[in-house]
Amino acid sequence: MRSVKSLVKGWKAAAAGLAVVIVIVVQALGLGAVWPQELAEPRLDEEIAKQEKIFQRRGAAVPSGYITNRGLSDYAELLPTGFCDALGRLGSSDRWLDIGAGAAQAILDYYAPEGDPPSGEKCARSVSKARAVAMSIEDRRTDKWREQAANLGDDRIRYLSGKSLRHYSVEELGKFQIITDVFGGFTYTADLSRFVDKVLSLLEVGGGFYTLVPGVHLESGDKLGTWYLTELEDAAGRPLRVCSWLKQTACAQVTCESKSDWKRPTELINIRKVCSNVSVPHLKLWEFEAGYPPARRFQLDP
Ligand SMILES: C[S@@+](CC[C@H](N)C(=O)[O-])C[C@H]1O[C@@H](n2cnc3c(N)ncnc32)[C@H](O)[C@@H]1O
Repeated sequence: MRSVKSLVKGWKAAAAGLAVVIVIVVQALGLGAVWPQELAEPRLDEEIAKQEKIFQRRGAAVPSGYITNRGLSDYAELLPTGFCDALGRLGSSDRWLDIGAGAAQAILDYYAPEGDPPSGEKCARSVSKARAVAMSIEDRRTDKWREQAANLGDDRIRYLSGKSLRHYSVEELGKFQIITDVFGGFTYTADLSRFVDKVLSLLEVGGGFYTLVPGVHLESGDKLGTWYLTELEDAAGRPLRVCSWLKQTACAQVTCESKSDWKRPTELINIRKVCSNVSVPHLKLWEFEAGYPPARRFQLDP
C-alpha cells in the first residue's frame, strides 16, 4: 500500500503538470496577452490623469502648442473639402456640434454680425444659421462668447463644459446634421472607437462628421523616418491605417484626404452616416502618453 507521503507527492506532481497544461492552453488561445495589459493599466491611468491636467491649464501655464482659439477660416483650411458647403446648406432649425471647441471662436465667427470683418470668409456666409453647440472639457468661454450668447439667446448658441463627450447621452444632446472636431476629442481621446461610436449616434442619418487626425499612417502611403502620434494595429499586430479601420464601420461612408506635406502626416476625415445601425470595430488602448496632442497606440479587438 502507498504511504500518505507518497500520495501527497503524487498529487503535487499532478497539480504542477495541470498548471503547465493550463499555461500552455491560455497562451495558445492568446489569453496570455491579458497579463501585460493588466500590468500596464496603472501607467495608462497615470498618463490619462496627466492629460486631464493639461486640459485644465490656464494663462501662462497653457502650452503654446495647445491652441484653443482657431476661427472658422482655420476650420475651413483644416477640415475636409465639403465642410464649408455643408455648413452653408444648413437651415435655421438644423444643428451643428463642435466637439473640442476650446474658446468656440469658429462658432463666434459663424454667428458674427454682418458688419464685422469676415474672419470666417473662407466659409461663405449663409443667410440662415444653424443652432450651434460648442463642447469642451474645460470652460474656455471668453467675454466675447458671453456677449454673443446674451444677444442671440441659448436657443442659437450653447456652450457645454465640465465633462468629455462620452459622459453625455443622446437624449441630453439631441441629434445634429453636422459634427466637427478640430484637434479635439478625436485627437485626444483614450477610447477612439467609443468616441466615434458616440459621434455617429449623435448624427442624423445623412449628416456628416468632419475631423482630422495628425501624425498617422496615411491612406496615400508613408514617408520613411516619420514619427507617429496615433498608431493602430489589427488583431494580429500588423499596422492598420486609421481610414482602413473607419471604413469597416457599418452604416458609415468614409472619405479621407491625406496631407503628406503638412508638418505631421495628417488625415482629413469625413464620415457620412448612411443608415442607423452603426457599428464601429472596437479598438483596445495599449499605450497612451499625455501631451498636446498625446501619443496613442490601439489594437483592433478580434
Ligand atoms: C487643442 S483644443 C482645440 C480647440 C479648438 N477646436 C481649436 O482648434 O482652437 C482641444 C479641445 O478639445 C477638448 N476635448 C478633448 N477631448 C475631448 C473629449 N473627449 N470630449 C470633449 N472635448 C474634448 C478640450 O477640452 C479642448 O476644448
